[in-house]
Amino acid sequence: MSRQAYRGEILHFLADPREGADAIRHFDDGVLIVEDGHIVEAAPWNEEAIHRLQGAPVEHFEDGLIVPGFIDAHVHYPQVDIVASPGNRLLEWLSNYTFPCEARYSHKEVAREAARFFLDRLLAGGVTSALVFATAHKVSAEALFEEAYERGMRLITGKVLMDANVSPGVSDTAETGYQETKSLIAEWHGKGRLGYAVTPRFALTSSERQLQLAGRLLAEHPGVLLHTHLSENVEEVAAVGKMFPSAPDYFGVYERFGLAGPHSVFAHCIHLPDNAWTRFGAAGSAAAFCPSSNLFLGSGLFDIAAARKAGVRVALGSDVGAGTSLAMLATMADAYKVCQLKRRAADAFDLFYLATLSGAKALHIDGYVGNFEAGKEADFTVLDASGQPLLARRLGYAKKFPERLFAFAVLGGETAVSRTYVAGKLAYARAPQALVKPRAL
Ligand code: GUN
Ligand code: ZN
Repeated sequence: MSRQAYRGEILHFLADPREGADAIRHFDDGVLIVEDGHIVEAAPWNEEAIHRLQGAPVEHFEDGLIVPGFIDAHVHYPQVDIVASPGNRLLEWLSNYTFPCEARYSHKEVAREAARFFLDRLLAGGVTSALVFATAHKVSAEALFEEAYERGMRLITGKVLMDANVSPGVSDTAETGYQETKSLIAEWHGKGRLGYAVTPRFALTSSERQLQLAGRLLAEHPGVLLHTHLSENVEEVAAVGKMFPSAPDYFGVYERFGLAGPHSVFAHCIHLPDNAWTRFGAAGSAAAFCPSSNLFLGSGLFDIAAARKAGVRVALGSDVGAGTSLAMLATMADAYKVCQLKRRAADAFDLFYLATLSGAKALHIDGYVGNFEAGKEADFTVLDASGQPLLARRLGYAKKFPERLFAFAVLGGETAVSRTYVAGKLAYARAPQALVKPRAL
């Protein structure tokens, strides 16, 4: 048995912090005890906790804030190659940049190299779990599964299903999509910490036959997720209306094919009528709020209050490459700004909850990760300001914890992650740099 302890400031959630302070666990000086890759406990640093260490070595992060590993509930790994591609909105962006880029992922070595880069950048952004789009090529999903398996990460992906309105280099057929998905599920779903998501790209790029078969795949494999895009952009919504004229709305297309259930995760969900939100909530599906992407492509503003009012579970997604950062703190900053524009409240606790336990619930992995309850897998990240002078200065003037936490969410970006641990093992450490300490003048 290998017991290890980490001392520092600790934050995690037992439930939604909007339900009350009992949901929040915060220790100014705490200790996280880990054994064989699992959490033993998170507790205040005191005599009793020291006793329970049973002599375990203690790593002390003096200015560090230890939080559960972040969860990115919607991201495209091949799009690391085209992130920050300007010009126009969703449909043009897809045909000008995304599809040409994804065509290269028919080559396993291209996919493997990008998968490695992507996972390393996720960990550098404090992200330990993600729900990820590959491409329509089976090898693209295999490469990501193999690399995530090697890193021991709890990650969910799937080969993309797309057999309509796209060129042959990036598409499959209804039949090959079905067969390849079945074989990937058999090989990878439940292997190590990996999971499978049946992944029709969106309604516009799948034939009715393919959507039907996607529904069959879900019915045949309880426990796999359904991952797709929904109502991101007004032109897209209009095109879906033309392609499926008898559906009541965009969500209704997915309902019709058995794709809207408790294991479904829909990215974006911006342009939805009230009635669709009600059905969405009743279906038990989850929404991935992708603020950076929605701002970058000018898609619109997600209404978190409408989603929650309908009982929809909400998570955060970077949606790289339409989103512009794999660092979850950057996504949190954009989420706050979108909520501001929508006149919706989002405080620091809410932002960290969305990026941790709420994300885990949306992906049905909250039995394993998302907080520091005893027995969960020890995925965590350590934040500090030592690489970030502006954040360090701001922290020096922040009197209360929520104020400091908010500064991390808004200013932390790419550089406030100092270390990331996966199943108790160090998976990322920021290169040492000139130390910047929080201080007030
Ligand atoms: N809708 C269908 N495909 C995509 C994609 O790759 N990115 C985004 N943002 N939206 C999509
Ligand atoms: Zn997307």
